[in-house]
Amino acid sequence: MTNTPKPNDTFMRGCWYMAAAAHEIKSSQTVHRTLLQEPVLIGRDRDGAIFALKDTCPHRGTLLSRGLFDGTEVECPYHGWRFSTDGQCTAIPSQKEGQKPQAEDIHASAYSVKENDGIIWVFIGCGNETGDLPSVPAVPAIGTRFQLHLHRTFQCNSDLAITGLMDPAHGAFIHASSLWRGHRDVRDKEKAFSPIEHGWCMDRHTASGNARAYRLFLGGAPETEITYTMPGIRIEHATTGKVTYCGLTACTPITTETTSVHHVMYWDVPGGALTRGLVKLMASRFIGQDADAVKDMRDGQAFTPPTILVEGADTQIRWYYRLKKEWHQAQAENRPFQNPILPTTLKWRS
Ligand code: FES
Ligand SMILES: [Fe+2]
Repeated sequence: MTNTPKPNDTFMRGCWYMAAAAHEIKSSQTVHRTLLQEPVLIGRDRDGAIFALKDTCPHRGTLLSRGLFDGTEVECPYHGWRFSTDGQCTAIPSQKEGQKPQAEDIHASAYSVKENDGIIWVFIGCGNETGDLPSVPAVPAIGTRFQLHLHRTFQCNSDLAITGLMDPAHGAFIHASSLWRGHRDVRDKEKAFSPIEHGWCMDRHTASGNARAYRLFLGGAPETEITYTMPGIRIEHATTGKVTYCGLTACTPITTETTSVHHVMYWDVPGGALTRGLVKLMASRFIGQDADAVKDMRDGQAFTPPTILVEGADTQIRWYYRLKKEWHQAQAENRPFQNPILPTTLKWRS
């Protein structure tokens, strides 16, 4: 046992964050998202291309997403300044010729944005990026297709939301269910882990014998692999060889006290709307249980920090804080991130 490092609630920058599911951003429409306390307008032009701008007008700061978008240009609702999707101002209706500034002098901030696997990713930089941006998170493509997107706002900082994803010992308690596992159904676990770029991987293994829902859904004895990458992305890939399931969970800080938790699911298991409906019901219940659990933890930790990280079951939580610290140090020293995780076998009971 050891004392936890004090959770650092500052954000991680220089990363891609999930902002929305692709189907949420319709052609010729814009939406507002708050990402790491930054207001972001995300839009799709009439040709289907996605774009993202800082959602404050360079003139007097009004939310641009409250204005009009004709599929080509965003028009601020307050004085009608117009902007192309790369942020260049194209019209200032109040200005006479020769007055300063003119439209060509004004530029709204734009974000790098990518659409991949049915997900919209927005890059939140740290200000000293040089060269190419990192690649966007991607799910293993083989045999999977987009099925569901669930979203919930967790009332806690992103550290609590993210570490909740990598905590293997709460399942039998918070998620106790006859379909999944109960309080008495706790078994010895031993899993091999390897470092990967910006995170670690729970190496491919046969899914736990007490994960009944998994076996029911995929049939047979699925093998599964789980990766965690900074800043808070968990990807689970399970396959029987015949059918495949892939789940991507992405935690995006909204503020220092609220976190967007997105869960995107891909599978090629036969079955249509009924399967989707059942999985959605179950996954929503799971996410709701996690949301309630971390909110209670937030409330408890407000009274009694520090907490304890045990050997085995809490090791991944310790890794998370180590990687986050290294992320900030590497940025402060302007050097590449060095993954401190070594290949390890962890043992616990869950
Ligand atoms: S505040 Fe946007 S045009 Fe004036
Ligand atoms: Fe959970």
